Amino acid sequence: MDLKWKQWCFMCIVLGSRVAEAHIFDVKDFGGKADGKIDISKALLSAWTEACESLEPSTVLIPEGTYLLGPVNFKGPCKSPSIGFQLEGLVQAPSNPAAFKTDGWIVFQHINGLTLFGKGTIDGKGEEAWSINKCAQNPNCKMLPVSLRFNFLNNTLIRDITSFNSKYFHMNFFECYDMTVQHVHIFAPEESANTDGIHMGISERINITDTVIATGDDCISIGPGTRNLTVTKVVCGPGHGISVGSLGKYKDEEDVSGISVRNCTFINTQNGVRIKTWPSSPAGFASDIIFEDIIMQNVSNPVILDQEYCPHLKCDKDDPSLVKLRNIKFNKIRGTSSSQLAVIIACSKGAPCENLEVGDINLKYIGTDGPAQSTCSNVNPILSGEQIPPTCV
Ligand SMILES: *[C@@H]1O[C@H](CO)[C@@H](O)[C@H](O)[C@H]1NC(C)=O
Ligand SMILES: *[C@@H]1O[C@H](CO)[C@@H](O)[C@H](O)[C@H]1NC(C)=O
Ligand SMILES: *[C@@H]1O[C@H](CO)[C@@H](O)[C@H](O)[C@H]1NC(C)=O
Ligand SMILES: *[C@@H]1O[C@H](CO)[C@@H](O)[C@H](O)[C@H]1NC(C)=O
Ligand SMILES: *[C@@H]1O[C@H](CO)[C@@H](O)[C@H](O)[C@H]1NC(C)=O
Repeated sequence: MDLKWKQWCFMCIVLGSRVAEAHIFDVKDFGGKADGKIDISKALLSAWTEACESLEPSTVLIPEGTYLLGPVNFKGPCKSPSIGFQLEGLVQAPSNPAAFKTDGWIVFQHINGLTLFGKGTIDGKGEEAWSINKCAQNPNCKMLPVSLRFNFLNNTLIRDITSFNSKYFHMNFFECYDMTVQHVHIFAPEESANTDGIHMGISERINITDTVIATGDDCISIGPGTRNLTVTKVVCGPGHGISVGSLGKYKDEEDVSGISVRNCTFINTQNGVRIKTWPSSPAGFASDIIFEDIIMQNVSNPVILDQEYCPHLKCDKDDPSLVKLRNIKFNKIRGTSSSQLAVIIACSKGAPCENLEVGDINLKYIGTDGPAQSTCSNVNPILSGEQIPPTCV
């Protein structure tokens, strides 16, 4: 114990006081084997239960090694005043999606003060799932598991871990308050379906910083009910960009407000910074959204606000979106566009954008058939600074 404690305290200097002096619950001491073959879920749940019930600061540890892990649900509330989950090993999911009866692989819920950290990796083994994912064609398709689900958490820190090849989204936040994601790495191939990096909804005061996301869908997607989200220093690509929405799919969606995306870089992505709402949608509201200090490298739609979002043409475009967008700002966005139409601001004719600002934009089209262009509808933007291409002319 003493040796472990010393090893641990080397880490606590790095991590600060948050999980200092934690008591360690090593999955190997609960029978978990690093053979990559025997499912460690029972051992890990036993370790979790003891750590969570402990009255001291506690940390569950998955040490170096390769492990097989089936679906697990880590439940709180915990008695422990701070609960850590330290991942140093490589944790692999079963390849076959049939091994999952629910919509999550590793689920944390009803916990206050969780710290998930370490140099380890979770591998969702998504290859088989992507090939059977027909959700683009069939909205009633069977839900594939999200690699990491965080439900009803307060005061969470996620640091340094890597998420690889999720079957569906890599991470999902639902009803999480005060959450920081720092120095995390997320990877899946460009052609993998629905492998969004981080999706969230009904969550407030979320910070995502210093993170690299390369995936087959949105790097970050911001769903209804997200408030006070700060994204800084994220490198996205390949992927579909950082997106608010899609909004307006369902009745009574909660508002989105206070979103800032700053100092981010997009490399070879399908979109850069995006807001999307469905046509013929019920009334909704999204406000105080800023995208600033953004670098685009070979991005297809670097700046896109689309209130007629209709992928696979499976929606009714007869009526306009009634999601109102107010106080939106695109500022200091520069780099290269791989499509000529570098700036698209298509607001709804049923609920035109209000107080939309476009500041310094300098986007060059990399093709040879002319300079970059922009298109606008149902908006009267407030322009300032440089406008390359000229906005809304
Ligand atoms: C999180 O905070 C909310 C609002 O303050 C509270 O209602 C809820 O019980 C808290 N949940 C946990 C798991 O601490
Ligand atoms: C999130 O970032 C904002 C702005 O950088 C900062 O004011 C806030 O304290 C941060 N919140 C947390 C929980 O780290
Ligand atoms: C949340 O965002 C709103 C803007 O929508 C802002 O007025 C408010 O100060 C922010 N709150 C926090 C805690 O950052
Ligand atoms: C964001 O980028 C701007 C312009 O490059 C720079 O002045 C600012 O310090 C950066 N902020 C952060 C938090 O990196
Ligand atoms: C630019 O992006 C396109 C896909 O949009 C890709 O095919 C092409 O290889 C990229 N070019 C460079 C130089 O990376």
